[in-house]
Amino acid sequence: DGAGLIDRYGRVVRDLRVSVTDRCNLRCTYCMPADGLDWLGTDAVLTADEFIRVITVAVRDLGVRSVRFTGGEPLLRRDLETIIAGVAALRPRPEIALTTNALGLSRRVDGLVAAGLNRINISLDTVDPERFAQVTRRARLRDVIDGLAAAREAGIGTIKVNAVVPDRSDLARLPELARFCLDNGYQLRIIEQMPLDADHRWSRAQMVTADDILATLRTEFPLTDDTRPRGSAPADTWIVDGFRAADGGPARIGVIASITRPFCGDCDRTRLTADGMVRNCLFANSETDLRSILRGSGGTSTEVDAAIAAAWRINTWDKAPGHGVNDPGFHQPDRPMSAIGG
Ligand code: GTP
Ligand code: 5AD
Ligand code: SF4
Repeated sequence: DGAGLIDRYGRVVRDLRVSVTDRCNLRCTYCMPADGLDWLGTDAVLTADEFIRVITVAVRDLGVRSVRFTGGEPLLRRDLETIIAGVAALRPRPEIALTTNALGLSRRVDGLVAAGLNRINISLDTVDPERFAQVTRRARLRDVIDGLAAAREAGIGTIKVNAVVPDRSDLARLPELARFCLDNGYQLRIIEQMPLDADHRWSRAQMVTADDILATLRTEFPLTDDTRPRGSAPADTWIVDGFRAADGGPARIGVIASITRPFCGDCDRTRLTADGMVRNCLFANSETDLRSILRGSGGTSTEVDAAIAAAWRINTWDKAPGHGVNDPGFHQPDRPMSAIGG
């Protein structure tokens, strides 16, 4: 009935994260086993046209205003440019963003920007080549650095670097990563690890916290509180005195403290998995199957769109108030991070 996506606690969904594949060409230890996972079959994954169709309903009928493509590794889709171009043609034109490990980005970024890509967040945990190869199980640091530079040259305004701190011993390498980002005008955001690893090895006792991260950064950089309103953004940010961002404004560093400072109360997200399931939270324990509606033989195309919208509204209404990781009896979702899309 024309309403947008709102949950029973009054949160309004404006941001859609779309996982376009569950596959990846890295094997980060905190995300995937060395041998990979049981990938979705080709038939299970939505086609470019199917993604565009579902995203059209989200933007046109459900009030979504920004679309972020994730994976696995989204660049493994050869037709990512096609999907982006389809979404860029929608009115109102949503903001279009990408979260990637940047392997191969240098060869694709011009085409992605031409298709309509506005923002890029790149995953990079360390600039130490040996440590990078250990954490990702692939010696590809050079490709990531080249991808970052190519994104800047392609004119992407804000480039964010996402860093997980896999182990306490990695804290000592953070200042080096921060300096690399500050020198190049990339906004570094350091992430508390969440219990979404395929191996179920996450442990609260081992997790590096936002307080650990901040204490380490402050040993080398003067950080001032940021007065810019945070809105629904996951990162708490600080201004780094003495450095400039790519746009000439003050440089910022962020911490995404999902566990020790949850931000679920301001969440404005919904998610679509590569196999066409809607999830209202990273930690949701149920999903809504849009693929069956899309591929079913029920009705005209207008009726199918209406059915997708209705199912999505119900899914959103049931969104839990928080992720529950800190509650007794918390149960890790069956899907690992790489199959949800971060
Ligand atoms: P921006 O729009 O640039 O702020 O993007 P983003 O930070 O929302 O997206 P990105 O894909 O770069 O994610 C960065 C980190 O935030 C990843 O570790 C994500 O898993 C985590 N993250 C993204 N969305 C959520 C969320 O809804 N809840 C929690 N707890 N973490 C999230
Ligand atoms: N906890 C938090 N962040 C994670 N990422 C991957 N696995 C985890 C996890 N268990 C990050 C990646 C990437 C983003 C999409 O999610 O580093 O930057
Ligand atoms: Fe791939 Fe991202 Fe997982 Fe690393 S964290 S293995 S880049 S999906």
